[in-house]
Amino acid sequence: MTARLLEVRGIQKRFGGVHALKGVDFDLAAGEVHVLLGENGAGKSTLMGVLSGAFLPDAGTITLDGNLLNLTSPRDAHAAGIVMIPQELDLVPGLDIAGNLFLGNEITRHGVLAGAAMRRKAQDLLARAGVSLDASLPVASLRMGERQLVAIAKALSAQARILIMDEPTAALSAVEADHLFTVVKELSERGVGIVYISHRLEEVTRIGHRVTVMRDGAVVGTTTPDAPQATLVQMLVGRPFSDLFPPRAQRIGAPILQLEHAAFDPDIPRLGWQVPVDISLTVHAGEIVGLAGLMGVGRTELLSTLYGFGISGKWRGRVDVRGKPTLLGSIAAAREAGIALVTDDRRGTGLILSQTVAQNAVMSTLKRVTPFGLVSRALERRQVTRAINDYDVRPRSPDAQVVNLSGGNQQKVVFAKELMNDPGLLLLDEPTRGVDVGAKAEIYRRLRSLAESGLGVLVASSELPELIGLCDRIIVMHAGRTIHEFGPNPSEEAVRRISEGEGLAA
Ligand SMILES: Nc1ncnc2c1ncn2[C@@H]1O[C@H](COP(=O)(O)OP(=O)(O)OP(=O)(O)O)[C@@H](O)[C@H]1O
Ligand SMILES: [Mg+2]
Repeated sequence: MTARLLEVRGIQKRFGGVHALKGVDFDLAAGEVHVLLGENGAGKSTLMGVLSGAFLPDAGTITLDGNLLNLTSPRDAHAAGIVMIPQELDLVPGLDIAGNLFLGNEITRHGVLAGAAMRRKAQDLLARAGVSLDASLPVASLRMGERQLVAIAKALSAQARILIMDEPTAALSAVEADHLFTVVKELSERGVGIVYISHRLEEVTRIGHRVTVMRDGAVVGTTTPDAPQATLVQMLVGRPFSDLFPPRAQRIGAPILQLEHAAFDPDIPRLGWQVPVDISLTVHAGEIVGLAGLMGVGRTELLSTLYGFGISGKWRGRVDVRGKPTLLGSIAAAREAGIALVTDDRRGTGLILSQTVAQNAVMSTLKRVTPFGLVSRALERRQVTRAINDYDVRPRSPDAQVVNLSGGNQQKVVFAKELMNDPGLLLLDEPTRGVDVGAKAEIYRRLRSLAESGLGVLVASSELPELIGLCDRIIVMHAGRTIHEFGPNPSEEAVRRISEGEGLAA
């Protein structure tokens, strides 16, 4: 880990009026895992976009093994052995896994696509990445975490010397993340240099050799992974930082959602979906309830079916909203019952990228801003400006195109949009995916204050420290069932043990 593999000097990049990179220096040794931290919008993805040939820098140099690199396209970067797994995955949902792995590199025999050969090789690649998925599954049927693993398998196929991973664990559960770390360690031992972008500070010590913090388009500093978290956080947010999590609920109100041995019968079964089979849980007003469990146990499906999203069918068993039996199963019914959902796939379901922040934010509230059947521009503007301030969306412009916002800022827009309807029950699936520590603290604080004013929250997260720090109770799921309930502040170890199936009949 001595030779400088990559050296980046004085990189500048502007997007119109945004000065995204202000003279950035960065380097990477062979076999090194260099963690890159920074607030949302700090410029991390942009810097990596420059390194992987996606963006041309306005100034600065990149050298590889001491030789100047001139990257004008991702193809150039690939040829130099630089491979990036982007933050927003660029898989094609309509193709199967094998098709995605070989996109642009299709195997042909006598000019004909060799489907069987590709699937065999794809299965190999998946196995090397430790993924047990059938290569002939369409990517559209995979959950976010599985898609991430496929993207990693795809990158492994490219024989990278430098691998750039932009928030790879954001959608992974603890077990999948552990697995990913093993893959990262193996690659590093083979001499691959890895740039690892993350908002999860605990990952710095787990896999990093060095850590660099960016803020506002510049490097704040580089340090060793054993630096105290408080130091890292201070470098990140540029000020001393106290508590990530607000105090827990003082007063719990009446039940908002009560499920007792409830199950969901889909009209048409959906491939790869673990529908709710036997769910018993209660969410009271004023309370934040967490859903834990491994990937695939049906947390996303529970939230989606309560909201009538992505699948149609009927709930049976006891389903009460505010003490009254309620028919859920369609979005209209959920909205009527005052339920809102923030999904884990902000690109697929949450946002229309080609539209502005303002257009996206008011999408779910059109009724409210149109008292006379007309969109009141002035009212809309006031609401959106308030939401942008409340959620600290940057840049603070209602007219920014969502596609140009950094990942974390897109997530804040999703939030603002769902909460504009004043729901009574908020369903959240991986709500802080890709959100920086400062903004996370802000979201937690807002959720708590909304809860204090009577909102009930049911939140699924694969980040256990988040569930434990935020929630009043945690419910563990397995195979479409609720199997255990924890009170406030359980140990991470205990939640993990139950999630991983201890005590379950084989
Ligand atoms: N194509 C673009 N057009 C205009 N502005 C852009 C574009 N891409 C990025 N930006 C802006 O550049 C700045 C840096 O964004 P970048 O995506 O690099 O942040 P990031 O550090 O990766 O943040 P996150 O943690 O949220 O992913 C942001 O202000 C962003 O809005
Ligand atoms: Mg980014």
